[in-house]
Amino acid sequence: MKDLPVSSDPHLLVGIETSDDAGIYKLSDDVALVQTLDFFTPIVDDPYHFGRIAAANALSDVYAMGGRPMTAMNIVCFPVTDMSKEILKEILRGGLEKIHEAGAVLVGGHSVDDQELKYGLSVTGIVHPEKFLTNQGAKAGDQLILTKPIGTGIIATAVKGKLASQKALEAMIEVCSTLNKKASEVMLKHEAHACTDVTGFGLGGHLLEMARGSHVEIAIHAEKIPIMPEAKEYALMGLIPAGSYATKHFCEHMVEIKPEVETVFTDLVFDPQTSGGLVISIGPDKAGACLKELKGEGSRSAAIIGEIVGPHPKGKLQITYERSLP
Ligand code: CO
Ligand code: CO
Ligand code: CO
Repeated sequence: MKDLPVSSDPHLLVGIETSDDAGIYKLSDDVALVQTLDFFTPIVDDPYHFGRIAAANALSDVYAMGGRPMTAMNIVCFPVTDMSKEILKEILRGGLEKIHEAGAVLVGGHSVDDQELKYGLSVTGIVHPEKFLTNQGAKAGDQLILTKPIGTGIIATAVKGKLASQKALEAMIEVCSTLNKKASEVMLKHEAHACTDVTGFGLGGHLLEMARGSHVEIAIHAEKIPIMPEAKEYALMGLIPAGSYATKHFCEHMVEIKPEVETVFTDLVFDPQTSGGLVISIGPDKAGACLKELKGEGSRSAAIIGEIVGPHPKGKLQITYERSLP
């Protein structure tokens, strides 16, 4: 979009230039719209679970900015002649379940005949025009909380190769279909400074966007990052999605990986996530209480994974590893 003549508008509080999760448009002194759109190809075979995951993923961009989803629309690409309509019905049933859990309402949608199945939502939410979060508010000294474990891309790759265990698959479905609703409410209550959700660029890519947006240096500790069951094992077997190399390469010159960090952790940090957790930058005085409440509200794997080291004009990410004492 960078060469195109995008118009500016004083009501547009968050537009396309900051790599944020959703656009924010001010309607009045009390209400702003939060708008986002996301859809993708199946990451699991079961259509109902695919629908739930795709909807949770689309809704997440509203939660990442501290908004409340109000309406949703289905986006469907479906091979009408080659696939049973029952499959589509199951996808939409899964999606609708998550829309309702979010407290939002389905208002319509659009479908096209396409050889490659895709599903997602466009979501509109609301937020107070002065109380939303972006990836730009992180402050020196903040702690970083991650609310869900990482490893989706690696497990999905193992699933495609028929190498994933049932246990790993079920854990991934559970994590990916969990809404970031509660996590978002808790971070707002504890006055977090910045937030984003972890999706296609992996934890590392999204943290780097936060570092660049907030002009800070971020340090994360590999040993503290929650990881989905068996993801490390599959990564060691080389089941790394292609996207992870592309992201790692793109981020390279802004990331410092300490020599003691094993390659498998770097692979996990840049593993593209589907419907990942929120990564929250929050003052050190609030981080403990926020983490405790997150764990109590369903984010059982939530953990403090690092901190904001200090200001940095261009933004930098540092990955460290501290061996535990014998
Ligand atoms: Co996002
Ligand atoms: Co998105
Ligand atoms: Co239409």
